[in-house]
Amino acid sequence: MFAEYAPFTTKYFYHILVIVVSFILFKKFFERPSAKGTAQSGTYAFTASDESTDPSEKMDKTSCEVEPALSRDLKHIPYHYVRKSEKELLAHASEFYRIVAARRTLRFFSTDPVPREVIREIIRAAGTAPSGAHTEPWTFVAISNPTAKLKIRKIVEQEEEINYKKRMGIKWTTDLSPLRTNWIKEYLTTVPYLILVFKQIYSTLPNGQKKIHYYHEMSVSIACGILITAIQYAGLVTLTSTPMNCGPAIRSLLGRPANEKLVLLLPVGYPAKDATIPDLQRKDLSEILVEID
Ligand SMILES: Cc1cc2nc3c(=O)[nH]c(=O)nc-3n(C[C@H](O)[C@H](O)[C@H](O)COP(=O)(O)O)c2cc1C
Repeated sequence: MFAEYAPFTTKYFYHILVIVVSFILFKKFFERPSAKGTAQSGTYAFTASDESTDPSEKMDKTSCEVEPALSRDLKHIPYHYVRKSEKELLAHASEFYRIVAARRTLRFFSTDPVPREVIREIIRAAGTAPSGAHTEPWTFVAISNPTAKLKIRKIVEQEEEINYKKRMGIKWTTDLSPLRTNWIKEYLTTVPYLILVFKQIYSTLPNGQKKIHYYHEMSVSIACGILITAIQYAGLVTLTSTPMNCGPAIRSLLGRPANEKLVLLLPVGYPAKDATIPDLQRKDLSEILVEID
């Protein structure tokens, strides 16, 4: 049967070969795994529509537990709630707004010490944040040790100098210029405390299996919001910072494990007596709220 096509296949042999090889390569590199996942492949694809938002969901799940990470016998208990009147609701909401509206990012700190118990309570508050499947994927490192603070300052200043001069580019540094920030971070050694927030990408169960931390990024971000608000509510000040490219060096300096990634570095203390802040205005409620009744 093939004999009658022999002249054709001989003439176009290299064309056919290129098409076949291209097809094989295309399938190998570009085709997504099937939606259901297959036992042979050993990995599962995920049907969640927002899979791209959480890298933890792309983990190879064959090495993970089939048992739930929480106890199967987890008790469900009554929720005790004291309902407020509408007047009280508004009074509380307004009071909370007044407190958070007074929060500002400080870049000049006093050396005055802060009680350790205050820092612990603030972190305890951050640890109440909701987390994907109650995985609590966070570690807070509170540093008051002067040598450790100095080492962190050196890492941050070294990287920030490169960030400002090379990595960030003219647009970013120009956008930052009204805030008068640069790579000199004196506050890292003047503040009484540095709080470093790490997100745990995964953890290890007592039986050695990996526990997936769903939505660790979002969970830790919520915890950071509570942390910053708790600092403000307690009467201290901070600077929200995400030192670019410093994560690995700081992680190894602090001896944190490989499953943890640095998210935020927060100097915490009192403002310096002569501290200044940029005179920023916040968007009006009408610009941030869409009401659909
Ligand atoms: C994710 C994030 C990263 C930030 N990184 C820095 C930083 O590296 N250095 C800095 O001086 N401020 C940093 N800031 C602070 C912002 O500049 C500040 O929040 C903004 O100017 C608004 O001012 P306010 O916090 O006083 O309202 C950061 C804020 C956020 C939310």
